[in-house]
Amino acid sequence: MNRSDLAAVRCADDAPAFDYYEPTGNECEIFEQAYRHKLPLLIKGPTGCGKTRFVIHMAQRLGLELTTVACHDDLSAADLVGRHLITAGETRWSDGPLTRVVRNGGICYLDEIVEARKDTTVVLHPLTDDRRILPIDRTGEQLLAPDNFMLVVSYNPGYQNALKSLKPSTRQRFLALQFNFPPPAVEARIVATESGVGANMAERIVALAGRLRTLAQQDLEEAASTRLLVYTARLIAGGMNPQLACEVALIEPLSDDAMVQAALREVVRAQMG
Ligand SMILES: Nc1ncnc2c1ncn2[C@@H]1O[C@H](COP(=O)(O)OP(=O)(O)OP(=O)(O)O)[C@@H](O)[C@H]1O
Ligand SMILES: [Mg+2]
Repeated sequence: MNRSDLAAVRCADDAPAFDYYEPTGNECEIFEQAYRHKLPLLIKGPTGCGKTRFVIHMAQRLGLELTTVACHDDLSAADLVGRHLITAGETRWSDGPLTRVVRNGGICYLDEIVEARKDTTVVLHPLTDDRRILPIDRTGEQLLAPDNFMLVVSYNPGYQNALKSLKPSTRQRFLALQFNFPPPAVEARIVATESGVGANMAERIVALAGRLRTLAQQDLEEAASTRLLVYTARLIAGGMNPQLACEVALIEPLSDDAMVQAALREVVRAQMG
């Protein structure tokens, strides 16, 4: 697997303004406390509820470089820590993204951590208890994480099955925050700010989401996300007919089942017609 597959995303810490993030509780304070106390943080929550945006925002607020690794079932410990590479007949060590952050400081954010293999997550253990070290067997190094190193991981418990959960010995090394969809007034502010629709339309879209979320609880793998509401609102702000916007940004992404779609469409018609 090559390095670009790791989807390492970097945010300049001299970015002119913080990415917009609307707090829904005391999560910003908790994140700051976790950082100050050098404790790793686990964020759980459904798709599209703001986990990634929150981490980006907090990295900017704390002036820390952010490195994101999208975890998958092929992700090996070497993909995180590093490996020897042979170039022009010479073998040289190449740091993985985790090692780079441990050397330089910043936030290492492992997204969808439950996808990573168990033997991969085990490399996090000495880094996430009070030792704060990253042993690199291949080079014989023991890196001590600097004060400005923080590990953040996230996953979506909705996708979890018996095979895809964190070992208790991994989970119990993290502070944990549960994310959910924001309360309606907050979600309407997010939808309006992220899309440019007026406050009234944002409130209607959020009210629609509330009805879709209760109606479709049993039939859908995941409820309508804040992300999809923002998409819907952007299309409407751009002049698209609201029913059509809901069709392509809500109904079709939520389900392939014709019966479920028909039920969702009914609610859309009643709310947006
Ligand atoms: N609290 C919030 N403040 C600002 N924008 C938000 C907030 N919550 C959600 N959003 C909007 O929802 C979109 C999706 O959020 P984000 O990408 O952070 O979700 P996520 O929880 O990381 O989802 P996934 O699990 O699928 O990666 C954001 O791009 C943003 O437009
Ligand atoms: Mg995300």
